[in-house]
Amino acid sequence: MRLATIKELLASKNLLQEVTIKGWVRTFRSNRFIALNDGSTLGTIQCVVDFENFDEELLKKVNTGAALKITGTLVESQGRGQSVEIQVSALEVLGIADPEEYPIQPKKHSLEFLREKAHLRIRTNTFAAIMRVRSTLSFAIHNYFRENGFNYFHAPIITGSDAEGAGEMFRVTTLDEKNPPLTEDGDVNYKEDFFGKETNLTVSGQLEAEAYAMALGKVYTFGPTFRAENSNTSRHLAEFWMIEPEMAFFDLDANMDLAEDFIKNVISYTLTHCQEDLEFLEKRLIDEEKSKPQAQRSDMPLIEKLKFVADNNFKRVSYTEAIDILKNCKPNKKKQFTYPIEEWGTDLQSEHERYLVEKHFKCPVILFDYPAKIKAFYMRLNEDGKTVRAMDILFPGIGEIVGGSQREERLDVLKEKIKELGIDEKELWWYLDLRKFGTAEHSGFGLGFERLVLFATGMGNIRDVIPFPRTPQNAEF
Ligand code: 4AD
Ligand code: MG
Repeated sequence: MRLATIKELLASKNLLQEVTIKGWVRTFRSNRFIALNDGSTLGTIQCVVDFENFDEELLKKVNTGAALKITGTLVESQGRGQSVEIQVSALEVLGIADPEEYPIQPKKHSLEFLREKAHLRIRTNTFAAIMRVRSTLSFAIHNYFRENGFNYFHAPIITGSDAEGAGEMFRVTTLDEKNPPLTEDGDVNYKEDFFGKETNLTVSGQLEAEAYAMALGKVYTFGPTFRAENSNTSRHLAEFWMIEPEMAFFDLDANMDLAEDFIKNVISYTLTHCQEDLEFLEKRLIDEEKSKPQAQRSDMPLIEKLKFVADNNFKRVSYTEAIDILKNCKPNKKKQFTYPIEEWGTDLQSEHERYLVEKHFKCPVILFDYPAKIKAFYMRLNEDGKTVRAMDILFPGIGEIVGGSQREERLDVLKEKIKELGIDEKELWWYLDLRKFGTAEHSGFGLGFERLVLFATGMGNIRDVIPFPRTPQNAEF
């Protein structure tokens, strides 16, 4: 007999059939009602045992967390809360879960407690819902690009370049840490390392994606990226997943259009395909916010917020306009920002980004044309000589969710920039080749996948939307 999933059975109209299912016990009430979950859906199926007909010792093993195989008849449910249930004829305990030791008992656990049990937290409704939404979003992303003529490109994980120039990289080496080979000057001699040079885990697949866009036209990466920035915030991970589309012949406007359409599309897809999980997460958020003062609560329930983003245009504002708004806003004048906005050219902090999105515009915002000084070397210089064709997308509750730009495609301008920043031209020889041979206008962006999952699930901490988070001082599991 084919093993049915609980999701199929809960939707089944085919009553009185004999079924076999396997899953884990959520609760066992009155020695009679087992609520079984198998991960296929949020819900549990009620399995009714006539305890008179079963061995007492066997039923003692039916504890929360135990794995069971159950055979029985699917019948209309007598009780409330479910349409069907299983009248159990045979029950096998596949794996016990000692209630004295198993930490995921049917009661409220804090997210902090569950973080310490990342290998088991997925057995709670909250984490199972988050991870199903995460999986659906991944699928929606691949689907979107496939339908829009993109090729999926696998960027290397180990690289010799620092795409963002921020120097926040994890070194990859096989040298003996206690006794590394040294140069005459006493530095570590990476020529003797595995790759014959210094290498690190990638911070972004963009540079390599540019090479591929200049042949395949439209490509995207979707893979892990690594940053050794020591920011212990609810928005930063040391290992996170990034989606990086890169398009030949796209200018910044086309890039912004694509980014906006892309985000709306994957959110709509998730609204359609994860309704039950999103309803659950919406209720969870409302419960969580009950203990907060009104001012800190979300102004829209989760699903309404997702629909709002999917249905409304993002506001497009230049950096210069944004600075004017920020300079003159109340919190700046009242000195409520930790980093006061004084002059054009300063980098925006998340408190500023969130003010623009949550208080001023009250919708997602795309900021563009940033000062060259605060952005990466590869962004295209504007006619004014001081701003670059950069764009960041800012989201309510999240801050920056996307960073992108039109790329500098002019060899001479790019070389000049590299020199100015003191980067060794030789290290970027292949990147410069792209400007020598068949160069053309091109653009792209990077979406932080976990920040998107944060937004879609209404969760507050990025550690709760990736299976096994890597953050400073934390690489357990
Ligand atoms: O703005 P970033 O640094 O842009 C780039 O890496 C470009 N190379 C992208 C491109 O144009 N192809 O990073 C892009 C996004 C950010 O907007 C943010 O959503 C996410 O990646 N991100 C992080 N997410 C989690 N933890 C971190 N430490 C992150 N750093 C960036
Ligand atoms: Mg950025």
